[in-house]
Amino acid sequence: MAREGLSAASGRVKVRVESDRCQGHGQCNLLCPEVFQFDDQGFARIVDERVPPHLEDDVERAVSNCPELAIRVER
Ligand code: F3S
Repeated sequence: MAREGLSAASGRVKVRVESDRCQGHGQCNLLCPEVFQFDDQGFARIVDERVPPHLEDDVERAVSNCPELAIRVER
């Protein structure tokens, strides 16, 4: 059984970008650069899929603002 404290510390929300949808609009990076960076071709790249709790709201804003609906979160 997972220890609650550990999972909370590492982030219980996971995020990913569907690469076939991402068109490189970049709102995700503007809203949460700690999680969303760009790859060599200008598409979104996730730094770490486990979202730190203090960045969950920023990630949710990125989800809402991606014009291609390319960002998915799992809880
Ligand atoms: Fe791609 Fe959407 Fe970000 S299109 S660069 S995941 S805002």
